Amino acid sequence: MRSDSDDWDVTTGVGSTALFVAAARTLAGQDDEPLAVDPLAGLFLRAAGGEWALLADPDPELTRDHILRSPDFGTSFRAHIAGRTRYFDDYLRTAREAGVAQVVILAAGLDARAYRLACLEGAVVYELDRPQVLDFKRGTLADAGIKPLADRREVAVDLRDEWLDALRGNGFDPSAPTAWLVEGLLIYITPDAQDQLFSTLDSASAAGSRAAIEQMTPLPRESYTELTESEQAGDEAGSDWARLIYNEPRSDAAQWFSERGWDAERTELADCLRAAGRPLPVVEPGRGTSAHR
Ligand SMILES: C[S@@+](CC[C@H](N)C(=O)[O-])C[C@H]1O[C@@H](n2cnc3c(N)ncnc32)[C@H](O)[C@@H]1O
Repeated sequence: MRSDSDDWDVTTGVGSTALFVAAARTLAGQDDEPLAVDPLAGLFLRAAGGEWALLADPDPELTRDHILRSPDFGTSFRAHIAGRTRYFDDYLRTAREAGVAQVVILAAGLDARAYRLACLEGAVVYELDRPQVLDFKRGTLADAGIKPLADRREVAVDLRDEWLDALRGNGFDPSAPTAWLVEGLLIYITPDAQDQLFSTLDSASAAGSRAAIEQMTPLPRESYTELTESEQAGDEAGSDWARLIYNEPRSDAAQWFSERGWDAERTELADCLRAAGRPLPVVEPGRGTSAHR
């Protein structure tokens, strides 16, 4: 279970979720007509080694029994990750077309957009995460000779604490419009820490700023209890992951930002996937909120 001061690297605790979604992006990119492709995600899996590296191997037989290849959870999770990757890629393209040149990615993990999205050339991209996760990403891509397209700046912080000073210390300009990106983070912080993070983001957003935020739907109480109370970690699919999340009701991002004067629009991920003719997740996956002020 979590504690207020727990820490991790990219293979442990909450950090390992960055590898897990990178693995899902790799597999989703192998679909016929993929919704989104992240060609760099496989590099992280190979660098992490072990079972992660097998997931990057083009031979699917090597990982036939992996949960990400299972017909129920695996299929829907890959669709979820493909849908959200597409949503946030499109968001950043639109922000850049509108002239926003400052991007802040909260809980960047192994998000390699600063290296792979041509629209980010000429932008400053701040990536916030724990230091060990940022080190792993930078080291892996540097070893492969891959350079960022953007002016990429790492900000090693704990997003449960105050982090704006560190962002400003790395050159962030609160008087310039910003595109904030919050993907795959909120469920790993408490509802109070989420509200604090929203307040910080709101306070540092000049006119013309935008935010795109993913919110997952909490698990039904019975499923959460069943998963987290199973005797041994890993004895049931998802039990390790369930122990990492705060499965509590929390502020709805679209409502929170609307109430503070932002123009916010909620998009259900299931609707995105339905519109794209993709398999719908077995568990209701959540939604993205795009807001601008
Ligand atoms: C599921 S991954 C998502 C990574 C990335 N946004 C993506 O979608 O590929 C969750 C990330 O949140 C980061 N994270 C979670 N809680 C954090 C905290 N309190 N401070 C900094 N980073 C945090 C983890 O280190 C990890 O990289």
